Amino acid sequence: MKIAILGTGSLARLYGAIFQDDDPLMIGRQLGPYLLTDPNELVSRHNLRFQRWDDPSPDSWDVVFILVKWPAMPLVRNWLQRWAGDALIIPFMNGMGQEDALIPPLHPSQLSPAITTDAAFRDDDPMTGVWRVAVKNRGQAQLTQVAHPNELILRDRAQSLGLPWSWHDAEFMKVLRWKKLIANSIINPLSALAGQPNGDLPGLPIWRLSKPLCQEAETVARAYGVEIDRTLPWIVELATDTGPNRSSMLQDVLLGKPTEIQAITGYIIEQAKKAGIPIPHHQALYQLIESL
Ligand SMILES: NC(=O)c1ccc[n+]([C@@H]2O[C@H](COP(=O)([O-])OP(=O)(O)OC[C@H]3O[C@@H](n4cnc5c(N)ncnc54)[C@H](OP(=O)(O)O)[C@@H]3O)[C@@H](O)[C@H]2O)c1
Repeated sequence: MKIAILGTGSLARLYGAIFQDDDPLMIGRQLGPYLLTDPNELVSRHNLRFQRWDDPSPDSWDVVFILVKWPAMPLVRNWLQRWAGDALIIPFMNGMGQEDALIPPLHPSQLSPAITTDAAFRDDDPMTGVWRVAVKNRGQAQLTQVAHPNELILRDRAQSLGLPWSWHDAEFMKVLRWKKLIANSIINPLSALAGQPNGDLPGLPIWRLSKPLCQEAETVARAYGVEIDRTLPWIVELATDTGPNRSSMLQDVLLGKPTEIQAITGYIIEQAKKAGIPIPHHQALYQLIESL
């Protein structure tokens, strides 16, 4: 399978290692050999093909994974416009708005938004120039069925690698994506504001915001035909299960990097405005994160 991976961060390095035998091309700003520590603390070394965003693509592609943070989206669009051809494109980013951001240049039948419970963190050492990624959880992935001819190639490959990946129709994926969006809209900003790992959140005073945040987001989801309720107990479970992890938004804030708040809370606010639903708690949280 000819596979390109847009991004060279945590998840890109994990997926690069998983699909290593397909000789994937990684596209980003910097990458060299890197060390991957798996959940059992086993360390492996990987040295994949790498190109910068502006370099001409050396090949055509069956499948392209998008594994960047949202601020890289203009580079992604530009790359896809030039080099995606008829490939099947799979964005694994958190947040929503992938269709609005990527169609066009893509055709709807090319785009298969996916979600994953894999968890990986960068652990680079700029002093020695050694790139590292620590994988904390090997989870599942759910992908949108789009009846693209290359979907079969990817399904076969995923099966031969023993990956717990499953494909679902767009309506079912919409529910899963909203559920994940709501979880991210609560855990990410609250952990970034509290400066605490996920597992500590339910015990903190700031967690009182989780109930109105969840109710607001569920109301917006229902306005778009997504039947969803009682998401909060699942979110508490998720925060507890990922206890020691620092959310990606907390990590971004600590590193002084732009966060993905626009694609998470920003998306919910945008949809709420269109549907005429007031969601003051999400608006307040959005402003607080922006002020960080
Ligand atoms: N990591 C996980 O466990 C996990 C799990 C589920 C979902 N996700 C989602 O997957 C996506 C990727 O996450 P990640 O953890 O792999 O992020 P990451 O480690 O921070 O890597 C992000 C990638 O995006 C690039 N990037 C970010 N801003 C950019 C900009 N302005 N211009 C050019 N490139 C830019 C980075 O390039 P540089 O390295 O050059 O900055 C890097 O290649 C996110 O949407 C995240 O929410 C992650």
